[in-house]
Amino acid sequence: MDRIVVLDFGSQYTQLIARRIRELGVYAEIIPFNKEPDSENLKGIILSGSPSSIYEPNPPLPSEKIFELSVPVLGICYGMQVITHIFGGKVAPTNKREYGFAKIEVVKDNKLLDRGIDGSTVWMSHGDRIEKPPEGFETVGRTDSSPFAAIENKRERVWAVQFHPEVHHTEKGKEVLSNFVFNICGAKPDWNMGNLIDILVDRIKRGVGSKRVIGAISGGVDSTVVAVLMKKAIGDRFIGVFVNNGLLRKNEPEQVLEALKKLGVNVIYKDASELFLKKLKGVVNPEEKRRIIGHTFIDVFSDVASKFEDIEFLAQGTLYPDVIESVSVKGPSATIKSHHNVGGLPEKLNFKLIEPLRELFKDEVRELGRQLGIDEKLINRHPFPGPGLAIRVVGEITEEKLNTVREADEIVIEEIKRAGLYNKVWQAFAVLLPVSSVGVMGDKRTYENVVAVRVVESVDGMTADWSKLPYDVLNRISNRIINEVKSINRVVYDISSKPPSTIEWE
Ligand code: XMP
Repeated sequence: MDRIVVLDFGSQYTQLIARRIRELGVYAEIIPFNKEPDSENLKGIILSGSPSSIYEPNPPLPSEKIFELSVPVLGICYGMQVITHIFGGKVAPTNKREYGFAKIEVVKDNKLLDRGIDGSTVWMSHGDRIEKPPEGFETVGRTDSSPFAAIENKRERVWAVQFHPEVHHTEKGKEVLSNFVFNICGAKPDWNMGNLIDILVDRIKRGVGSKRVIGAISGGVDSTVVAVLMKKAIGDRFIGVFVNNGLLRKNEPEQVLEALKKLGVNVIYKDASELFLKKLKGVVNPEEKRRIIGHTFIDVFSDVASKFEDIEFLAQGTLYPDVIESVSVKGPSATIKSHHNVGGLPEKLNFKLIEPLRELFKDEVRELGRQLGIDEKLINRHPFPGPGLAIRVVGEITEEKLNTVREADEIVIEEIKRAGLYNKVWQAFAVLLPVSSVGVMGDKRTYENVVAVRVVESVDGMTADWSKLPYDVLNRISNRIINEVKSINRVVYDISSKPPSTIEWE
């Protein structure tokens, strides 16, 4: 199968480059900037962008041998500056970042930017810029503020662009990448999700050898896909651990166990709900809740793991958005925020980490899950945070409050499903607020709790918009919660987007 390799210099968009190429039906793989790609079936190399500047001390640079592999190379943004620097051109630091839209003018016939691309909108996001292209390079595209927005060296088979063809804002971005991959590299579109299963299973087999692997299963799509891949690769040498932390939704433990059983995954069930609730007693601060839940989880998980002697690996369902949102990411990516799924377990447990889904986006994982025969209901399940209902009960957690939020949550989900909206929204849930308000029921004054309903639309959870639900759906949700859930006399709808709000209330 033909391969395009993306060298990762730490851009937030690196995975997007790989993803766009996979969308063209060609297998794309990401490797760190300083590694040399394996030449087997290699058709082309792309150098990603980066938050770094070629001017800083020790800028990230690739091995120059990549230019001797006889495959075309495309540099994007920082990748273009790397090429200019290596081939002896001039990059100048600017104190003004160019950020936003520009129009690309194609100034010479070339294979990368065909005439159809001329005059289209491109997305710029860079600090340094090219002052003088290297010897042997010709300018093929320019914008108002970048006279050398695209360059080529046909003899060396090297191309570079200042703009980002991988982002949606670049109108003809897909055409640019397609020209590179097909017209320049001559790659065949012979990749699909079925192949990906073989590739991942093969990687797991080679990585694990004859050892055993343990992994936590939450019942969500990511960890379930990992578990099924593991089972396919190494059979019962994968041990899945499902911990009930007492913070799950109504009937969730039973449903998860049932689904895993159907998939034939080897799973150990550990009900640790009492322990979690004991540790969370009296805790109000959300970060403190997260910390306690994280630590308690590690303790429970380690306890299960310690019963086995020969486990060498820990499998995790980390996805690409978790990776870029994480501080613990190894590589030159700029930090966005500390995240929950990445880090934690492996450091404490002395296991080697396997993250088969690390390069994928959620929708790709869902597609993979379908191919693996996982039930559609599970595949389309909304994301559910690791700390569970603990971050949906604002303030101190008690069994009673958890039950209240469970009942309210079930109603929200039922009504969203009944309205045919479940698969259209990213998440829908109830939050129990530590607020009492006055109400009137019958002739009596009540003083009871408030539930906030949160329904958001999003592509990846990194940004989100509140869902403009029809009034009758909101009405049913509100009526049912107030009538059916004890101790609730008021329901409010959250109309905040992310950013500046987050999806969860915590
Ligand atoms: P926020 O609240 O940060 O959430 O806007 C973004 C997305 O991440 C989910 N989330 C988590 N997922 N472990 C997870 O696996 C967590 O600790 C966690 N915290 C938030 C959240 O539900 C939303 O989809």
